[in-house]
Amino acid sequence: MQNMPLIDHFGLIAPYYDRVIRLQSKEKLIALAGVSNGGRLLDAGGGTGRVSQTLRELMDAIVIMDESMGMLRQAKNKGGLETVCSKTELLPFESQTFDYVILVDALHHVTNQQQTISELWRVLKSGGRMVIEEPDIQKPSVKLIALFEKLALMRSHFLSSREIVALFDKYPSARIHVEQEGFNIWVVAEKQPSI
Ligand SMILES: C[S@@+](CC[C@H](N)C(=O)[O-])C[C@H]1O[C@@H](n2cnc3c(N)ncnc32)[C@H](O)[C@@H]1O
Repeated sequence: MQNMPLIDHFGLIAPYYDRVIRLQSKEKLIALAGVSNGGRLLDAGGGTGRVSQTLRELMDAIVIMDESMGMLRQAKNKGGLETVCSKTELLPFESQTFDYVILVDALHHVTNQQQTISELWRVLKSGGRMVIEEPDIQKPSVKLIALFEKLALMRSHFLSSREIVALFDKYPSARIHVEQEGFNIWVVAEKQPSI
């Protein structure tokens, strides 16, 4: 696969990932995504399925898409989650396939952030919602994580909420909502149906 990271950091830590990175709360994500009953959800850069495994009973289908086979193997072992190995910058899905798209703790890791948003926006259905959760780079502890990831030769590039919102500038149908709580920010983009 093209543009794979120099070191497969996530492949190395995949077996331990869920034990080290604990999910704080799924309720916030459910509320922001407006998940009710059913629909198809794409968990982009979804890794081990740590987050979306908690949404299984709410959805008709969940697709975990990630570039790391090691992370996807963990997701597959959980059952009830489809897995697709791909880069977020070029998705193997038809346009308007998903009712919900989530991108949790992954935007700062991807190779091309604008291209990632373009692809996620393309596969989101009209009337659907995308939720991006990122560590808040304004917080000193997150700045330390960013430094650590640089030293570990990860290709991380953290954006402020304002910069994430700007990635949607070319989509007039995007209705954007931003939240901040603790060390996280959420950018929610609703794809308004065209009249
Ligand atoms: C910090 S992990 C987060 C995983 C998951 N979203 C979670 O919150 O548990 C970031 C994930 O993004 C994936 N990733 C990074 N860049 C990617 C890209 N360009 N395309 C697809 N996946 C990518 C990594 O392989 C990794 O699994």
